[in-house]
Amino acid sequence: MTGGADLSGTINRNLAAAAQRLGIGMMLGSQRVVLDTARGEEAATSFAVRDVAPDVLLFGNIGLAQMTKDAVPHIVRALDRVGADVLAVHTNPLQEAIQRNGDTDFSGSLHRLHDLAGMLGYPVLLKEVGHGIGAAAVAKLLRLSGEPPVAAIDVAGAGGTSWSRVEQLVRYGELRYPDLADWGIPTAQAILDVRHALPVIPLVASGGIRTGMDAAKALALGADVVAIARPLLGPAIESADAAIDWLQRFIDELRICLHGCAAADLRALRNVEVVSTP
Ligand SMILES: Cc1cc2nc3c(=O)[nH]c(=O)nc-3n(C[C@H](O)[C@H](O)[C@H](O)COP(=O)(O)O)c2cc1C
Repeated sequence: MTGGADLSGTINRNLAAAAQRLGIGMMLGSQRVVLDTARGEEAATSFAVRDVAPDVLLFGNIGLAQMTKDAVPHIVRALDRVGADVLAVHTNPLQEAIQRNGDTDFSGSLHRLHDLAGMLGYPVLLKEVGHGIGAAAVAKLLRLSGEPPVAAIDVAGAGGTSWSRVEQLVRYGELRYPDLADWGIPTAQAILDVRHALPVIPLVASGGIRTGMDAAKALALGADVVAIARPLLGPAIESADAAIDWLQRFIDELRICLHGCAAADLRALRNVEVVSTP
């Protein structure tokens, strides 16, 4: 979720300590600020978590708009420095369009992703930020070369944090375009779409995952992993123990869902019958 300021460092370290304790993964916030040579050195320390989380699967993070050929060595240096295992690339055209001075030039960005992903030496996960990656986006990815140029996808669908809503409130102090606040592919639909198009790609479900039961549903619909952002912000500001408490309750609820579905493990949830009601 974050990085670049003092509080970000606290949040990242508390999340990292919780991830280490519970054996789960963690994604850093956008490392764009580290690419900025003026502020980069100072900002880098807020992303440093390996000393408290030596074993977690750690995702670095950058925007698709920032992924240029010139930026590749800087991105690699930022990933090396934090000891990341994977780079998450977020595509967020709606957010950028509403943000003041947003980076709205996405022209050629999928081709750049295709050309540059292999140059990083890190596997790439492609994600949205809460408006969803669905069938149309996957079709475009596949048109590039017949295979997705990324190792994994996080649908980051609609139904949870809406950056279109947040940016309107930040910029205008009100919802100037209310319809845009709710625009997006709902997470459940996005999971079905991406899983249908890409049957074996590692698939993360984020966007509105709030409870262990939400996780169970997302996994039963075809996700391999779920991710949570907004609900962990408060606990992560408070302490590592607060983040652990929140996550442990979530995991316990998911466990009870497995029991209720007679699923011996997470993989077995895939075979559970999913019934949609209107
Ligand atoms: C405070 C906050 C900061 C975020 N920062 C980033 C970011 O830097 N990069 C990114 O890819 N996604 C970012 N996200 C988006 C999340 O990764 C996630 O896709 C989205 O919030 C949906 O999940 P949620 O409904 O659980 O919040 C952020 C979300 C929150 C709440």
